[in-house]
Amino acid sequence: MQSFVCPLLVALLLGARSAKAVPTQETTQACADITDALPGKVLTPALLGLEYANETQKYWSTALREVDPACIVRPVCAEDVATVVKSLNKYPTVQFAVKSGGHDPNVGHASVQDGVLIVMTDLAGATYDAAEEVAHVKPGGEWNDVIRDLEPSGVTIAGGRLGVVGVGGYLVQGGISFLSAQVGLAADTNKKQNIIGWETVMANGSIVNVNATTQPDIAQAMRGSGSQFGIVTKYTVQTHAIGDVWGGFCIYDASQEDKLYAALHTFVADGAQDPKAAIIFTNLIATGGAKTDVVYYFYDGPTPPTSGPFANFLTIPALQCLPRTQKYSELLRANGEPIHLSNARQSFRTYTLPYIATRPQLYAEIRDKFIQISVPFLTAERPTSQYSVDFQPLPSVIGRISQSKGGNAMGLTVSDPDRVILEVQGSWALASDDTVGHSLSKQLIEWLDVQVPLWLDEAGLSRDVYLPFFMNDAAGDQEVTKSYRDYEKFKALQKSVDPNGLFSVRAGGFKY
Ligand SMILES: Cc1cc2nc3c(=O)[nH]c(=O)nc-3n(C[C@H](O)[C@H](O)[C@H](O)COP(=O)(O)OP(=O)(O)OC[C@H]3O[C@@H](n4cnc5c(N)ncnc54)[C@H](O)[C@@H]3O)c2cc1C
Ligand SMILES: *[C@@H]1O[C@H](CO)[C@@H](O)[C@H](O)[C@H]1NC(C)=O
Ligand SMILES: *[C@@H]1O[C@H](CO)[C@@H](O)[C@H](O)[C@H]1NC(C)=O
Ligand SMILES: *[C@@H]1O[C@H](CO)[C@@H](O)[C@H](O)[C@H]1NC(C)=O
Repeated sequence: MQSFVCPLLVALLLGARSAKAVPTQETTQACADITDALPGKVLTPALLGLEYANETQKYWSTALREVDPACIVRPVCAEDVATVVKSLNKYPTVQFAVKSGGHDPNVGHASVQDGVLIVMTDLAGATYDAAEEVAHVKPGGEWNDVIRDLEPSGVTIAGGRLGVVGVGGYLVQGGISFLSAQVGLAADTNKKQNIIGWETVMANGSIVNVNATTQPDIAQAMRGSGSQFGIVTKYTVQTHAIGDVWGGFCIYDASQEDKLYAALHTFVADGAQDPKAAIIFTNLIATGGAKTDVVYYFYDGPTPPTSGPFANFLTIPALQCLPRTQKYSELLRANGEPIHLSNARQSFRTYTLPYIATRPQLYAEIRDKFIQISVPFLTAERPTSQYSVDFQPLPSVIGRISQSKGGNAMGLTVSDPDRVILEVQGSWALASDDTVGHSLSKQLIEWLDVQVPLWLDEAGLSRDVYLPFFMNDAAGDQEVTKSYRDYEKFKALQKSVDPNGLFSVRAGGFKY
């Protein structure tokens, strides 16, 4: 076991920025208490104001950079987080939020206006314990940091497919990885288990090492419940050996669509026969409805196969193609590069589609419907605005892997069908577009709510298919946990560890 030292920092008073926030008196008092307990680790507009302003900008969606917390706490260890939680327990009206990477675009999940924001900026990276073959992974920072730290030891863990993505939120909400057909969701189990321990600050301020031996129910809940069970300060994760991988993305014009969609349909059903292969299939829709297909490819080995569902894609002519043999860290970094350039208000919304063998046209139907919905918005006045639908195959094998060692909160099991997780993304520049900007993806999902049962009927399939939502890709107003088969069990468990509603009432995020 390694322990993190918990040094005291020296407070520096830097220039103040004009405060526009109006926190309650109780919030101001809570911030003052936390500042006394953790000197140098609390930022307010008046105290370390430049760093405060800097921290408020560290969100992917620009909409979240406008949210001003009363104070920001930067813990450096679990004890610091426990101190904050104990303080919050003394001030029951104070709102707060926990932020790791800040990639969740939903307002109020990892951001809080006039409340206490706990950021994991100073708790980042990973270390490898070769004797135990586990990585100790901290929640702050991005996957680029974690993968880089582990790579010299020849190991990795299931994590984000674009290196820029944050770690903490990704791991508590589930996590689809390029390695998922081999090891399950990132939060999930494999032959041993991916995450085997969660160092967690519980609602009562205790630091508990949650694991499947001591707390099997909480351990299961930790795999996909989000932020409702505690604040995770360290994940202990079983590692996966990794060498050079083959991957990168290719960009296609519309003339290749028929071939691409046919390859996608085959991959959804049969791709996991070679579990080392993974794809993300993205349709971008830009101004005027201009469409581009982008496919991210990954193969866990230096050379891709020459036949089979993955190889099918590789014969389709592309406009531009980046895949090559490289280090895993290089691939993830390159995959995330274009995202660094995005500087927009963002929306996510998800849907879980069943694989319907007799309906290969369904992907094109969905994309065409989304073009129809979004084109009136994607005018020349919004030149940087862009929408996309990602098709992310979720092969049934993931359920088998998951169930074999305790299961996850999402309730994936061995009897699962093949499915596709949709990630419907949108971006725009202006706050005045927020209402309509968010509504477009919602319209698409409402259309799917009607269409999918009809498609199942037409195909002679039962409507009674288990299609839980994937939390990491969801909009804040989607009832993700209600789509889980064990919703009632986890709701009761959540209440038992958080009887006063610290996480369920006073912080944002998906709830039970
Ligand atoms: C460019 C991009 C690529 C993506 N790629 C993938 C992908 O490949 N696979 C995938 O599954 N998802 C992907 N996602 C979705 C991503 O997993 C979510 O956005 C996730 O929330 C990001 O984690 P984060 O640490 O940045 O979360 P944050 O925005 O910091 O937080 C999200 C939620 O988790 C809670 N939380 C954060 N840290 C902790 C903690 N330590 N303890 C308890 N609760 C916590 C927060 O309170 C909040 O409710 C991607 C997102 C983006 C923007
Ligand atoms: C702002 O944050 C960035 C990124 O973490 C850091 O490099 C920079 O030094 C910070 N600036 C200030 C003024 O704190
Ligand atoms: C589970 O946690 C307990 C208590 O912290 C610890 O004693 C035990 O070794 C852990 N088990 C595993 C398998 O990590
Ligand atoms: C705090 O809550 C956890 C989880 O419910 C529990 O295991 C622990 O015993 C509690 N600690 C105290 C001091 O009550």
